[in-house]
Amino acid sequence: MVRLTIDGRAVEVPEGTTVLRAAEKAGIDIPTLCDHPELTPYGGCRLCMVEVEGVPALQTSCTLPATNGMVIYTNTPRIREARRLILSFLFGDRNHFCMYCQVSGGDCELQNAAYREEMTHWPLQPGWRPYPVDASHEDFVLDHNRCILCRRCVRACGELVGNFTLGVRDRGAQTMIIADLGVPLGESTCVSCGTCVQVCPTGALIDRFSAYRGRDAEIERTKTVCVGCSVGCGVELITRENHLMRIDGDWEAPVNDGVLCEVGRYQPLKDERARIVTPLVRKNGTLKAASWDEALDVVAERLKPLVGRNGDGVAAIASARLPAEVLYLFKRIFADAVGSGMVTSTGWNSAWASIVKSGRVSERGLDALKSADCVVVLGTDLVQDHQVAGFFVKRSLPQGTRLVVIDPADNALSEWAHYVLRPQPGTERDLLLGIMAAVVELAGEQSNRDLSEHSPELASQRTGVAADEIRRVARVVASSQKPVFVYGDGAASNGSAGIVETMAQLVNLIEAPGEGYPALVAVCGQANGLAAAAYGLDRAFSVGGHQVAYLALGDEDPDQALVQPLEGVPFIVVQASHVSAATTMADVVLPVETWAEQEGHYLNLEGRLQEAHRGLTPPEGVWSNVRVLQSLAEKLGITLDDGWEQALRARVPIA
Ligand code: SF4
Ligand code: SF4
Ligand code: SF4
Ligand code: FES
Repeated sequence: MVRLTIDGRAVEVPEGTTVLRAAEKAGIDIPTLCDHPELTPYGGCRLCMVEVEGVPALQTSCTLPATNGMVIYTNTPRIREARRLILSFLFGDRNHFCMYCQVSGGDCELQNAAYREEMTHWPLQPGWRPYPVDASHEDFVLDHNRCILCRRCVRACGELVGNFTLGVRDRGAQTMIIADLGVPLGESTCVSCGTCVQVCPTGALIDRFSAYRGRDAEIERTKTVCVGCSVGCGVELITRENHLMRIDGDWEAPVNDGVLCEVGRYQPLKDERARIVTPLVRKNGTLKAASWDEALDVVAERLKPLVGRNGDGVAAIASARLPAEVLYLFKRIFADAVGSGMVTSTGWNSAWASIVKSGRVSERGLDALKSADCVVVLGTDLVQDHQVAGFFVKRSLPQGTRLVVIDPADNALSEWAHYVLRPQPGTERDLLLGIMAAVVELAGEQSNRDLSEHSPELASQRTGVAADEIRRVARVVASSQKPVFVYGDGAASNGSAGIVETMAQLVNLIEAPGEGYPALVAVCGQANGLAAAAYGLDRAFSVGGHQVAYLALGDEDPDQALVQPLEGVPFIVVQASHVSAATTMADVVLPVETWAEQEGHYLNLEGRLQEAHRGLTPPEGVWSNVRVLQSLAEKLGITLDDGWEQALRARVPIA
């Protein structure tokens, strides 16, 4: 620990802490612009300058390490004069006609800093020249006129997202933020995660969806969980008068540290599907509005005679994006009380079912990825799916992390990989055994394993991957301090469960010095796919001779694989928030809330149980999924319990 004095207050902080963070700890506020707690200190804007006793020049507190005995002053006349000069330069450099700017009036850190210094005008004659506005991106706009070159966006794109799309061109007054080698943002390698927009302190990077629709003082923020996939990122819903305007990453969320992907940040804002706001019952071939009581009566009357008929009674499927409470009630009604043998979830074809059965849930979480020095990825494309997990991999590469991608098919992560192994489809397990044999070779006499029947040469014949490549990858994983093996749905879904077991054997074979390593991490499925599998909602969905199909979709848009089997089913009930191919086929439609309107729990891929909170009020006439199932159970004479958490804990370890 080091001890220093800031504005007369004694402060004690761990070694390596900057003066800025030490001041924050002491409750002393130093103005900043280029600093961001999640980014490496840069020291570019100079606004955070402080006086250090015995040092002639002012120092930037965001880059200055605190040392024992330091005496710091943060608010002397000299410092305040320097701050005003810096702000004058920033306002004079580019066009900051604040009255036309969407963040003016409380949301702009530059403007707020000027108000704080009681600046009422620009002391320097502005020498503005027009800069371009890049409006080529679908989700946000970059107005170079408002840019103060703080480089937060550049650092966020590299350090947090690992995408390195943004950079800086030229020097001095010519300096510009650029995408790639100077292409429009919309044509760049940007993956639309929006992290740069979230960190921009001015109106230079603005979001198309929320721009000019409300300032911070007029909006509400609700912390909840993204249901885009099983990573389970923490989000903040930004709402105004019950409209969803923006989604920010929650900087305090332990899973994602504030970072989101395009699916979590922008897709919900682009949802243009028609909302269902009243129960519908088919009469004379047409869906007609009905009361809740009437609609539930119709459903209950069709279900009652089917109780106990497990072969051809009810086929029931629930979305794996629904909260655990809903999935549990769904299972209690249809599997336990009605007794149907076909009760499942839309996550049935993911790897979770076999993982739950194998007892391998959450051996290590995503934190293992954040500090890995070697990552082997098999059976998933982390650029397309579970993208934030992919960001953790990509952002570690500049620190020297080696990336190995094993995939018979095209995999976008390969572009980032040091080693890409493309075995023939179906031979992934042989390849892993070949790598194991090569690891044993490396260990020489220290190993008592005999894997000669899987030698790299034999594995090469079986997989089509050169023996040299197999040995090279084996050397990389065996010499790493903190290797992590990531597998996705492709490695463990139907017919290929042996791959996960072999991967686990490979992990056991390697002796890595890093504590908790080597690690095996599953990155699979939908938001609550793990919970659905834990409740046993994991059967392959098929409808054959069933009298009723009951679909609890929530806000999931059903794909063709879900809709097509419904052809010919005599009676279809769909519990959903939006119009879809399934609701148009339904005999009864029960309107329910969306993810942003609901409460409940989600179990992410690490086995972390997270609570979702309601950020929007559903339209009148729309019920919660829980209320619909409880009311239906009542009409069927079924008694329900709230043992959802206990049932989960009985099947999977919960972090
Ligand atoms: S949206 Fe994401 S990937 Fe695109 S430039 Fe911004 S930080 Fe980089
Ligand atoms: S665009 Fe925003 S975050 Fe990026 S350098 Fe300019 S002001 Fe800073
Ligand atoms: S990685 Fe998954 S949970 Fe995280 S923001 Fe993207 S879709 Fe949402
Ligand atoms: S915040 Fe310290 S130099 Fe910008």
